[in-house]
Amino acid sequence: MSAETLRRIVIAIDGPAGAGKSTIAKQTARELGYTYVDTGAMYRATGLLARERGVPLDDAERLGGLTADLEFGFPWVGEVLHTVVDGRDVSHLIRTPEAALDASTVSKVPAVRAALMVRQRAMAAAGGVVMEGRDIGTVVFPDAELKVFLTASSRVRGERRWKQMRDRGDTSMSLDDVITDIERRDHQDSTRAVAPLRPAEDSVVLDTSKLGVGRVRQTILRLVAARQEDPDVEITQSGA
Ligand code: DC
Repeated sequence: MSAETLRRIVIAIDGPAGAGKSTIAKQTARELGYTYVDTGAMYRATGLLARERGVPLDDAERLGGLTADLEFGFPWVGEVLHTVVDGRDVSHLIRTPEAALDASTVSKVPAVRAALMVRQRAMAAAGGVVMEGRDIGTVVFPDAELKVFLTASSRVRGERRWKQMRDRGDTSMSLDDVITDIERRDHQDSTRAVAPLRPAEDSVVLDTSKLGVGRVRQTILRLVAARQEDPDVEITQSGA
């Protein structure tokens, strides 16, 4: 099949913090010429704006109203995807450990999830999207042509996050604290009532600590090629 006739599919990449979703989703999108969407950034920005505007993070009604009114933009600046909310670049502000936990807290609110899901679906209306998050394959795109669930032990994920922080010059947390934070967020994300973090039944589960980022990316590209040619092709883990 020629490149022009290949279907531009929706690829859902879910998994816990530090599993390698962003690196892998971004690289996959670039290789395919697809749009990359980081839904975690939307939850982070929502939590940040709620704090800044004095909306309590457990006030479901006000959080829902705030989220529905937010205007998001995701411009690329060189190699970096920025997050702009209501005309303000919040890319750095949303990357702190506090912003991560706030994001996880506001993400429990059904009205917040509903308002963000409308935007997420609109961003993939034309296909050709790699979208990463926690509920993309289970809730946002239950019919996504390819669903990948990335995972790794909390120690490996914590080490990755800790290294990223140190590379940014942030030495405020010990490795053990970072791992504890990740486990706390995993627990909050996977036990919430609405759209909890879990692999979709028809997802391919890949462990990035065992396979490494390069092999995971290659595996995904192989699966994409198979899906583009025949959407009904059976994908199993052993086929990965
Ligand atoms: O991927 P991330 O670490 O930037 O996500 C921050 C938080 O946002 C995460 O702990 C849970 C929430 N989230 C979510 O509930 N659903 C998504 N699709 C993406 C993120």
